[in-house]
Amino acid sequence: KPSSHGMRIVNWHDDRLGLAKMGKENLRKVFPDHWSFLLGEIALYSFVVLLLTGVFLTIWFKPSMAEVDYNGPYQLLKGTPMSEAFASTLDLSFEVRGGLLVRQIHHWAAILFVAAATVHMLRIFFTGAFRKPREINWLIGLGLFMLAMVEGFAGYSLPDDLLSGTGLRFADGLMRAIPLVGTWVEFFVFNGEFPGTAIVPRLYMVHILLIPALLLGLVAAHLALVVYHKHTQYPGPGRTEKNVVGYPLFPVYAAKAGGFFFVVFGVLTLMGTFMQINPVWKFGPYNPGEVTAGSQPDWYMGWLEGAVRITPNWEWHIGHTTWSWNIFLPGVCLMGVLFTLLVAWPFVEKWITGDDSEHHLLDRPRNVPTRTALGVAAMSCYAMFWLSGANDIIATHFHLSLNKITYFMRAAIFVVPIITYQITKRICVSLQRADRARLVHGSPSGEIIREPDGAFHEAHVPVSDEEAWTLTQHKTYPVLTAGSIDERGRRVSKKRARWMKWFLGDNVAKVSREELEATRGHSEIDSGEGTNKPEI
Ligand code: HEM
Ligand code: HEM
Repeated sequence: KPSSHGMRIVNWHDDRLGLAKMGKENLRKVFPDHWSFLLGEIALYSFVVLLLTGVFLTIWFKPSMAEVDYNGPYQLLKGTPMSEAFASTLDLSFEVRGGLLVRQIHHWAAILFVAAATVHMLRIFFTGAFRKPREINWLIGLGLFMLAMVEGFAGYSLPDDLLSGTGLRFADGLMRAIPLVGTWVEFFVFNGEFPGTAIVPRLYMVHILLIPALLLGLVAAHLALVVYHKHTQYPGPGRTEKNVVGYPLFPVYAAKAGGFFFVVFGVLTLMGTFMQINPVWKFGPYNPGEVTAGSQPDWYMGWLEGAVRITPNWEWHIGHTTWSWNIFLPGVCLMGVLFTLLVAWPFVEKWITGDDSEHHLLDRPRNVPTRTALGVAAMSCYAMFWLSGANDIIATHFHLSLNKITYFMRAAIFVVPIITYQITKRICVSLQRADRARLVHGSPSGEIIREPDGAFHEAHVPVSDEEAWTLTQHKTYPVLTAGSIDERGRRVSKKRARWMKWFLGDNVAKVSREELEATRGHSEIDSGEGTNKPEI
């Protein structure tokens, strides 16, 4: 029992900060449990690791392109002229106690951060967690995703080694390829011609202050919205659009999440200890006249690199201007297309279905076959671009012709997504059929029965109530014809009717309440269609 003195101290703080009320409201907040909800957390914790390790690196790293002759312990580079940035990265790696470890943890954390954010985004996409009311959090997430990529790129450009300079040269090419204003953009960013001496100090400011501050602000807004909306949940027993089933934030979830932070930090530390990453001393200092064979960017930039490698060499010369479509199209336009599609998708889907209700129960990907198929097609297209970024490595490792790989990839980026789209859609529809069959006819029991006339059949038992909940809790939309009126009272245009047919047309009819009652003999299941099941 707290002493009266203790209570006075607590009350003094509470009068000024109002924490008790806030705690009462938020600490009991229920958080549902599912492994896929850990993806956002992995992104969050690797971001924290980046902040912690990044601060350590700032103590030793010198963001300067002033030239020095290397005079450290790494014999192979002794006396080599290099920038202070590169020399200080070598010092960090060889002389600062724990420096190499922290550098490697920082780099692995960066790779994990972008990877976790990407897979988290896919989870949100495939389960429809971006639907009302979470559209704004989807957009904030996309902002985070874009900033994370730029932040990572700025980071690995800092050491001014041969690999980072090659990456910057690539970025320089993208800038220059912007029609008409390209050279001005280059001069603005590099303070003159590439590489100049301004870029490392500028990127440093961007890397340790500007983008981390933006990321922090957006992460705070992102998480505040998760708390405000409450988390979504997968369909399951007792779960409805109006409740959240799970553990309270405090103590259960806080303990789990706190522990998970240390798991992520621990794994990153092990990776930093045992797995070498970015050994800049092997690459040597940047020199615009050299490129190492087999240069590869960090994974999240690979798709752009691949796009540039396989685009044909289209170039226009009009008057005194050069239009380098071979870099502008794959670099600048492709990124623009990807982000425009991602930004637009929640709104496009809403326009097609005409659905304006809130969604807190997640979709099982099979129940929205067209969205799922589109997502898989987009992933496979990305993968083809990404593989193209390694065309030289594939050629040397598998003894194949570089040109043939390039021609193959030019076709693959169009053909592979069409194939994966069709296959995914068919798999989803088959899974819907299987679900329907299980609900209506029960699941195979493994018990073989012999009839008096000698025929065999397998007995089917009704699926459990728990499973029936899960299988029936999704919203379905009718495929409307042009001119009819949708849920929101809007007339369906011809164009929208066509899109509806494409998006919803293949869905297997949902098991109706009547069918369910007929097969199960009772109706304890909330199929998400507004029955009065008591909330749990
Ligand atoms: C270097 C990524 C946040 C400070 C790097 C490198 C990457 C990176 C990939 C190259 C590491 C290497 O040498 O192999 C990121 C990402 C961040 C982030 C993705 C956040 C999302 C920060 C923060 C700070 C920081 C918050 C400081 C407060 C540094 C410094 C270097 C560096 C000083 C140069 C030292 C070096 O290259 O060894 N960063 N970083 N970083 N980062 Fe970060
Ligand atoms: C939810 C963190 C990027 C969209 C969450 C959650 C966390 C989180 C911790 C709650 C747990 C979970 O569902 O995983 C982060 C961090 C990011 C990031 C640190 C760093 C880059 C993104 C991206 C998107 C996104 C790229 C989408 C484009 C969402 C949405 C929710 C969410 C819509 C709510 C999901 C729900 O309630 O089911 N985020 N996220 N986030 N995130 Fe992110």
